[in-house]
Amino acid sequence: MIFWRVKPLDQILATAERKSLKRQLGPVQLTLLGIGAVIGTGIFVLTAEAGQKAGPSMMIAFVIAAIVCGLAALAYAELASMLPVSGSAYTYTYGVLGEMLAWIVGWALVLEYAVGAAVVSVGWSGYMNGLLAHTDLFGLVAPGGLALPAYLRTGYYNGGGFNVLAFGISLAVTYLLVIGTSKSARVNAVLVTIKIIALTMFVCIAVPAVKHANFEPFLPGGWGSPMGGVGVLGAAASIFFAYVGFDAVSTAAEETKNPNRNIPIGLIGSLVVCTIFYLLVGYGAAGSVGAQPILGPNGMPLDPGSPEMAAACAQSQALVCSKEPLAHVLRLLGHPALGNWIGIAAILALPSVILMMMFGQTRIFFTMSRDGLLPEMLSRIHPRFHTPHVITVITGVVVSICAALFPVGKLADTSNSGTLLAFAMVSIGVLILRRQQPNRVRPFRTPAAWIVCPLAVIGCLLLFVNLSLTAKVVFVVWAGLGLILYSQYGYKRSQLAPGNSV
Ligand code: ALA
Repeated sequence: MIFWRVKPLDQILATAERKSLKRQLGPVQLTLLGIGAVIGTGIFVLTAEAGQKAGPSMMIAFVIAAIVCGLAALAYAELASMLPVSGSAYTYTYGVLGEMLAWIVGWALVLEYAVGAAVVSVGWSGYMNGLLAHTDLFGLVAPGGLALPAYLRTGYYNGGGFNVLAFGISLAVTYLLVIGTSKSARVNAVLVTIKIIALTMFVCIAVPAVKHANFEPFLPGGWGSPMGGVGVLGAAASIFFAYVGFDAVSTAAEETKNPNRNIPIGLIGSLVVCTIFYLLVGYGAAGSVGAQPILGPNGMPLDPGSPEMAAACAQSQALVCSKEPLAHVLRLLGHPALGNWIGIAAILALPSVILMMMFGQTRIFFTMSRDGLLPEMLSRIHPRFHTPHVITVITGVVVSICAALFPVGKLADTSNSGTLLAFAMVSIGVLILRRQQPNRVRPFRTPAAWIVCPLAVIGCLLLFVNLSLTAKVVFVVWAGLGLILYSQYGYKRSQLAPGNSV
């Protein structure tokens, strides 16, 4: 209805050649799946970014972001259970709001997934660089002897040159995806355990070291500013990244036993577990060594990722300057070895999050190309590995270059802009579909949908407005580019265009 050319839901299910998957996932496995996809660069790295924007009140930011995600998650789960096919928010929008909006959502999901993969790669490089700088390899080298030169440690737009480790890890993950590596439940369980042990260890050391004085002033950046990018709401808009990934749970709807009960348990369960950890980590980090922002001449926090901030951080030991904040806190608290161990945990666990993000990206492009909105050659399958190798390699190269050049916070905000649009569209889609097709089978129904979905949209808008200005500008330029591409290519070549095969 709304922007013509709606792809009928039954046709979506048919074109996806739906395979019937065994219903075997229970609430615990689903929760683990969610935690595995969610815990990553957000908590391990962006804690410093949140501290720079909000100071100790970043803890409130963690809660705000969790609430918005929780609301959107409930909406996501309804559509995911009705349409358990690849393409996530893009596919749902195609079936409900029509092709043009679906294109915009698909185009925005590029920001979520591809830029998100770059965020996690940069986060990973922060810990790897930290470990190289702090290890003596059990006495084999001089301390710091393995550290890379400064210009190879951070990107050009972050006061450095070329972030070679971020570049390398994204290329390595691209290679794994081309040869067909995918998520395995057993590997996921091991990585979740590593992350939980690492965060628990951090909490056990940092929380007892909390000093009340470190929480003063509590709101150094205020609640926010009309331009966004600062204060509690600015921090919430950035730290939102720490929760992204829970949609892995909703997309498993078809493989879930009793989805109506277990999907919300998995979604809310993983969000609650992560929120508790995030709060404890935020409390421990801010309270033990202090998370006060570095202020500019106007008395407001400097913009993280800006040249001024890079210059101010050059000689600073402040938490908000660290590229490996959790390891940094443990080192400042007198536990250098444990700092290295938490670094090793991040180094082991983050690549699977990069893999998940990049995998999501290639599958979105693949679905859009199958629908005729992108060139067909992009969905070509490798004869031996049976993976969409063309699009995987293109995605991987672009992600690697972004990771090599840009600061983590700006990339995270940009990724969030795409995610927020997708979440808002899905929430609107749920309501429209309730009206249009009230009798369609819904294995999972969003509870109190007429309250939850509008609140999710308002929450997404609030966070979007509070993103950094750079991210909002990139988003608008990206959307404009997308619309030009759609009008020149997808609109005519779409499978649903008159005269094209369906
Ligand atoms: N939530 C994931 C992370 O923080 C994407 O890395």
